[in-house]
Amino acid sequence: MSLLFEPYRIGSMEIRNRFMRSATTSYWSDERGIVRPEIIELYRGLAEGGVGLIVKGHQYVMDSGKAHRGMAGISHDYHVPQLLELTDAVHEHGGKIVTQLNHAGYNSIVDRAGPSEYRAETWEARALTANEVHEIVTRFGDASDRAMEAGFDGVQIHGAHGYIVSQFLSKHANHRTDEYGGNLENRMRLLNEVYDEVRARVGDRVPVMLKINCDDFSPDGFTVDESARVAEAICKRGLDSVEISGGGLGKQEPLRRRAMSDDPALGEANFAGHAATIRGATRPTPMALVNGIRSLSCMEVIVEKDLADLISMSRPFIREPDLVKRLESGQESAHCISCDLCGSGDVFSKMMLRCHVA
Ligand SMILES: Cc1cc2nc3c(=O)[nH]c(=O)nc-3n(C[C@H](O)[C@H](O)[C@H](O)COP(=O)(O)O)c2cc1C
Repeated sequence: MSLLFEPYRIGSMEIRNRFMRSATTSYWSDERGIVRPEIIELYRGLAEGGVGLIVKGHQYVMDSGKAHRGMAGISHDYHVPQLLELTDAVHEHGGKIVTQLNHAGYNSIVDRAGPSEYRAETWEARALTANEVHEIVTRFGDASDRAMEAGFDGVQIHGAHGYIVSQFLSKHANHRTDEYGGNLENRMRLLNEVYDEVRARVGDRVPVMLKINCDDFSPDGFTVDESARVAEAICKRGLDSVEISGGGLGKQEPLRRRAMSDDPALGEANFAGHAATIRGATRPTPMALVNGIRSLSCMEVIVEKDLADLISMSRPFIREPDLVKRLESGQESAHCISCDLCGSGDVFSKMMLRCHVA
């Protein structure tokens, strides 16, 4: 039988198969960041559908780190009761769920502030003071405490997609001259401090995970070699699992091609080439790969060739929450066509997440 459907262990957590639902915001929490009943039902459906590990959509660790309307919060104790209902719904169906902790930095809708002053085409952001950086680190810790109260099986630090951790990592976005900027060691200081704080709060009882960019796809940003060095260092520090993603501030679409693999069997896995570069640096820490993976044959190649341990997907589970059961019973591929209507401006934060093609 395929390894994909066999149980797998991440640190102290056993999951029922190698499928991971990558963090996906449903952009439908209420104005205070409290998850609505429809969101709880979405997670119940995913667990019923057989996915091994669910990563909840990102949650802001402090109000100033909110990325968009409808984003869920974990910044206050009043966020906890509904999150507990959500994790209960997943556990009732044999699933495991970790939450994704985030701070939007420059991408905040409350206070645009990040490593340095930053000027984009349509907005400007200010630089955080060192004291503000320290406060953000503490808030990641407070949010981890709440995640434990809310029954999550672990936490994932959002270190990708142009939010605060990836802003600090990127020399495109980070021009600080203090201990948080300059060389890579300094640029990864925020990540190290967040990791240490989260670990100090949750101990070894649950896994601490990271989603990281393999590349920002910016001409002057975070590169795959830097990603491998950061991933290696944080895995040595004790991280339980790393998920390989990509894209951040300064992204140029054509540069995405450099992350692809030459192997046609891995053609749909958009970051497979870069994942191979990073893989050696992170062993034996479990690695998940996300972006574009749709067919069972590609998933099989990924685990058989030992490119990654876990198959992570987002959009396919919006269309088919029971995708894992379908693949197990013979469906050859996810039906998702990657049209991106699920996250388009027409629907984002205006209605509950759903597939608009199915
Ligand atoms: C509607 C939507 C919401 C998303 N929300 C998050 C999120 O909260 N955190 C995150 O790390 N990535 C988020 N992503 C990115 C996905 O986790 C994933 O990296 C990306 O969609 C590529 O994987 P896929 O090809 O399997 O969809 C989101 C994607 C979509 C389409």
